[in-house]
Amino acid sequence: MARTAGGVKDVNERVVRLAQSFDEWRAGARELIARGVPPADVAWQSQPGDGDLFSSTPDATDTSAPLLRLPRPLVELLESAACFSAPDRWAFLYQVLWRWQLGQHDVMSPADTDGARLHAMAKAVRREEHDMHAYVRFRERAESDGAPRFVAWFEPTHDVLPQVARHFARRMGAISWMIATPTASMLWDGQTLHAGPALMRGAADIDDASEALWLTYYRSIFNPARLNAGLLRSHIPSRFWKNLPEGAIVPAMVSGAANGERRTGQTATVGQRNGATMIAISAERAQPARAAATTLDQCRRCELWKSATQAVPGVGPEQARIMLVGEQPGDQEDLAGLPFVGPAGALLEQAMHDAGMARDSIYLTNAVKHFKWEARGKRRLHKTPAQREILACHDWLEEEIRRVQPQVIVVLGSTALKSVLQDGAATMTPLIGTPIQHNGRWVIAVYHPSYVLRVPDEASRRQAYAVIVDGLYQAMQLLQGQDHSVDAGTSAPSSRRA
Ligand code: URA
Repeated sequence: MARTAGGVKDVNERVVRLAQSFDEWRAGARELIARGVPPADVAWQSQPGDGDLFSSTPDATDTSAPLLRLPRPLVELLESAACFSAPDRWAFLYQVLWRWQLGQHDVMSPADTDGARLHAMAKAVRREEHDMHAYVRFRERAESDGAPRFVAWFEPTHDVLPQVARHFARRMGAISWMIATPTASMLWDGQTLHAGPALMRGAADIDDASEALWLTYYRSIFNPARLNAGLLRSHIPSRFWKNLPEGAIVPAMVSGAANGERRTGQTATVGQRNGATMIAISAERAQPARAAATTLDQCRRCELWKSATQAVPGVGPEQARIMLVGEQPGDQEDLAGLPFVGPAGALLEQAMHDAGMARDSIYLTNAVKHFKWEARGKRRLHKTPAQREILACHDWLEEEIRRVQPQVIVVLGSTALKSVLQDGAATMTPLIGTPIQHNGRWVIAVYHPSYVLRVPDEASRRQAYAVIVDGLYQAMQLLQGQDHSVDAGTSAPSSRRA
């Protein structure tokens, strides 16, 4: 029996509507409103055949019903609230819609009882999306044909998987992954998202070696002297801990901190690590022969294309007389498809400005054209390209040099130096500030801007920055025929300007 404003109504007189998604609900609601069916006369089902009360056959939805004109903020609220997991969510949304079309526009206001619930639902959903972005942990799987390379298990409170999956699809480029939850799964094959069924937790099987490395890393960055256990718990609600790999070791580390490690400022494992603490992102398989690709986008000469969003070519005038060569695109460059648009780019731009160099007269490019990274939680951390990747990409740089014919090349850091000189053993120190001739053009080596961003103390940072400004200044001087290969740095302005 259903209670209505007018009294009690038998459930068999109610119209049954199926809504398994916001779009389905919207289509049904639009048609019901057009027919003037009040909320009390509708029974909303979330699954076909849901509930023993609703035995009547659902009416066919009339998709030709007129569109309701709703303000954008209301549509957004309804859309978010539709992801809130509550048995009466569709009925509630319909009630909001019904009141709106009756002219009761305060139904959108948090001061209204329904409005308050609507806002609270939307807020809870946004919060859940945020938590899922933050606490999904992808784990690399052992290689196997056709299986996604990374998998994650998560137990969301609300139905936020589709939008979270779209977020990760934008972030993770061409690499394949799957997020499994108790109610649905999403697979990204590198190009397309596929909705899948609910999976058992074991679907997120992990590669034990990668997990062990991650835990080693986590232990080593944990600083017991700076532990604030209350803050830690409040930042990561306890329901997430069980699915975080580090969740298994945090309680022991917290208790270690309470029992004396706080005094020494170190966990027992610091200093015991030898070698890499990185999670290796291995090439899935040997790559095809190094066939000549006709465009950079098609390049498959090494495996980096697989994890990158796109190849990032150089930019700048085709007749530029100075070319700046960086290492490889970073996180932001990979998404934007342009070199030096992130923090390193901002620093480089400042250095160009301080050297009196006009950015739009310079050709800016990288030795390696695809972003090489490793997954660290939800972040993509830069990984230095290997010599084989520098070599594989060298043809593209060579092609740019042939085309632009710069008179001076400024190499930013060691990867660029190795590529430009085609010498995997080349080192920066002897060449910093001392231009050399190579293949008929000047080459000047300066630090990479990211190095400046990483230097911990202010004095060294200033020094490193000045080296970049000096090098850029020298590049311009060399164009004017002045050889600064001997008195490197003496006339550069950076010490005054940096
Ligand atoms: N670092 C680089 O070397 N190149 C870029 O494009 C961005 C950061």
